[in-house]
Amino acid sequence: MILNKNLEPITSMLIISALMLKVFTTIYHVLIITLLVMLDCHTDYAKILKAFYKGTEYQEMIEQAGYVLENSQKLMQDIYDMDQILHQMCSKLFKITKKLKTQEEQREEARVAYDHYRNKLQKMEKTHAKSTEAKKIDVYKRNVEKFNKSKSEFDTENSKLDKLMEQIQIKGEVIIDQICIRFTCEVESKFFIQLNKSFKKLEIIEQQMTEISQY
Ligand SMILES: *[C@@H]1O[C@H](CO)[C@@H](O)[C@H](O)[C@H]1NC(C)=O
Ligand SMILES: *[C@@H]1O[C@H](CO)[C@@H](O)[C@H](O)[C@H]1NC(C)=O
Repeated sequence: MILNKNLEPITSMLIISALMLKVFTTIYHVLIITLLVMLDCHTDYAKILKAFYKGTEYQEMIEQAGYVLENSQKLMQDIYDMDQILHQMCSKLFKITKKLKTQEEQREEARVAYDHYRNKLQKMEKTHAKSTEAKKIDVYKRNVEKFNKSKSEFDTENSKLDKLMEQIQIKGEVIIDQICIRFTCEVESKFFIQLNKSFKKLEIIEQQMTEISQY
């Protein structure tokens, strides 16, 4: 249990980390959209070429190039899905960080009350607890009750805050995991390898077209 300690730096750090994750996923989102638009332009261009070369000796090759580009677009779906997942996870994380600020304030209020009765009781140990005056003993008892109540309230608020911070940490770790493992290994590398293969295929088609034009 953390007592008398200002938790604001810790919670602020958690919120900043969540924000950074949000910024990262937003950049990622923009990148995905740009790639999607780029591939869309290419497939549109392939359609124009297909119409243009219809009935010529290039027709078959242009059609093949169109298929290659369409396949690349399917690859984008994987990355796009990943983008959606990251976005949803970040939204959930943000909902918790909002709760965190409120909970931090509630804990602070409970801490102030708890500290107040703790100090008061400490002083009363000497003046009231061992007193022979019934009135003083009565006052002491009432303060013990108040102290007990404030202590249990503080414990409750503290454990609520602990749970929220733990949730943020776990959710943040899951997002980082998703970015590092799923995005980098699965999506990014898979995507680039596949795209590289597509470009190789396009190069071969281009070569065939050049050969035809040389006849
Ligand atoms: C206050 O709490 C202590 C233990 O935490 C208990 O022994 C005591 O009876 C409680 N007193 C009152 C007045 O609630
Ligand atoms: C693409 O594949 C070729 C081999 O087919 C390889 O030499 C090249 O490094 C690859 N490029 C990327 C960016 O992976």
